[in-house]
Amino acid sequence: MAYNALYFIFALLLKIPKDYEAVIGIETHVQLSTLTKAFCSCPYSYGSFPNSSICPVCMGLPGALPVLNSKVIEFAVKLGLALNCNLAFNSKFDRKQYFYPDLPKGYQISQFDVPIAAAGFLDVDIPLEFGGGHKRFGITRVHMEEDAGKLMHAENGNLSQVDLNRAGVPLLEIVSEPDMRNGIEASEYAAELQRLVRYLGVSNGNMQEGSLRCDVNVSVRPIGQSKFGTKVEVKNLNSFASMSRAIDFEISRQVLLHSQGQEDQIVQETRLWEEGSQRTITMRKKEGLADYRYFPEPDLPSVILSQEYVDAIQNCLPELPEEKRRRYEKMGLGMQDVLFLANDKNIAEFFDATLAKGADAKLVANWIMSDIAAFMKNEKLTINNIKLTPEELSELIGSIKGGIISGKIGKEILFELLAKGGSVKELIEKKDLVQIADPVEIEKMVDKVIAENPKQVEQYRGGKTKLQGFFAGQVMKVSKGKANPGLLNKILLVKLNSKS
Ligand SMILES: *[C@@H]1O[C@H](CO)[C@@H](O)[C@H](O)[C@H]1NC(C)=O
Ligand SMILES: *[C@@H]1O[C@H](CO)[C@@H](O)[C@H](O)[C@H]1NC(C)=O
Ligand SMILES: *[C@@H]1O[C@H](CO)[C@@H](O)[C@H](O)[C@H]1NC(C)=O
Ligand SMILES: [Zn+2]
Repeated sequence: MAYNALYFIFALLLKIPKDYEAVIGIETHVQLSTLTKAFCSCPYSYGSFPNSSICPVCMGLPGALPVLNSKVIEFAVKLGLALNCNLAFNSKFDRKQYFYPDLPKGYQISQFDVPIAAAGFLDVDIPLEFGGGHKRFGITRVHMEEDAGKLMHAENGNLSQVDLNRAGVPLLEIVSEPDMRNGIEASEYAAELQRLVRYLGVSNGNMQEGSLRCDVNVSVRPIGQSKFGTKVEVKNLNSFASMSRAIDFEISRQVLLHSQGQEDQIVQETRLWEEGSQRTITMRKKEGLADYRYFPEPDLPSVILSQEYVDAIQNCLPELPEEKRRRYEKMGLGMQDVLFLANDKNIAEFFDATLAKGADAKLVANWIMSDIAAFMKNEKLTINNIKLTPEELSELIGSIKGGIISGKIGKEILFELLAKGGSVKELIEKKDLVQIADPVEIEKMVDKVIAENPKQVEQYRGGKTKLQGFFAGQVMKVSKGKANPGLLNKILLVKLNSKS
């Protein structure tokens, strides 16, 4: 037993020993941010009062007829194109029958045998801290369906109620090929999907609110075996971090059973990730495949796309995360910069807008990733609510590069702009911050400092040349930070080294 426990820890540490390979497939549900639900005109907003946004259609009352919201099709086509899928120009909706308390109609409107998009892929850049590299993950299908309501359980567990606000909210279900091999690859795939729906504006992609929900299938097989191992479904993954940890735990659990010759104990089941204990536990064993008795939804017409419609959407697609990363890379930025800037749509827009004003890419990236990022983190602000504008950042960088102000003054101005806004030109003028680049003026300051520090001058000339830094600091102080550092040092050296 002690050996088993040790092995288990060992397996967890190594994530996956080299004799085995994990196979992971991911099913993602993305809630679309349409103004109204899929088949009625009720709006949906997360967290609103239970049952405050329902009508006979989304309540599933008898005789109520669904009317398709055309935005659902538009968003599905957008995502299908962005995922490099083939679109079905003639698809349909189907009824998936099952009984559940939050499903008022007793069936879900979904798409069965003809999904609106299929056979695509998603490109991902794995962050450097996880080994880096570019990965392509296959997309099996994307289909449209409606969400169910939500059960609310009383704290003491003696009462459950249903809230139908979410019933009928449009979803896209995205099914991946089983192309991921570890927790990081899976969570990076999911993070890329989140970026994609945010770039496209089809969903807020918020995991905490359930706008993006991922379930995964994990199986393990000995390397070289082509047959898949028994797969286990893992649910309750509320963040990318928990997704990655849950998968790595599940892989270790299955590898341990394999290595002990107990792979028959891996059964097809659904397991829950327990955040508290950092492990997966059995939720339910499979009762055999459910028969959903799918049939075409009789109350809705077929979904026919025209080439013009698809072309119009294709032509309006924004630059997608993968294209952005490749463009940033071509500018000569390192992968760390590329990922930082492109991962957040708003930061990428700010960066692009600053470049559009003529600033140098590497310099802009440095300012955003160091001082601006630190400020946002400290103040808990996003780039959309800082007072600095791309125009002013470009102006600031230009002013330093052009020698109008020193880098040190530039930083001071930056913090003023971040906190209070305003313009670089005004601040330079108002505070009299223009860099001193007049040699005569700098020489005067150097002379003053040398005259005031005879002891240090003596030490310097006696061989303690490290004191140059001290002198430079003093002169900078006298200039109130405005002396041109290059000029200052040049004049200072001449003066210090000249025999008086
Ligand atoms: C449930 O529990 C609450 C508080 O403990 C109590 O007031 C209520 O009557 C209980 N309801 C039922 C249906 O048992
Ligand atoms: C919401 O509406 C449904 C359908 O009328 C009802 O069954 C349910 O009890 C309501 N839920 C709440 C919390 O009032
Ligand atoms: C896992 O596999 C089962 C059986 O093929 C399938 O029904 C289910 O949708 C899959 N789930 C995920 C999350 O991929
Ligand atoms: Zn409704």
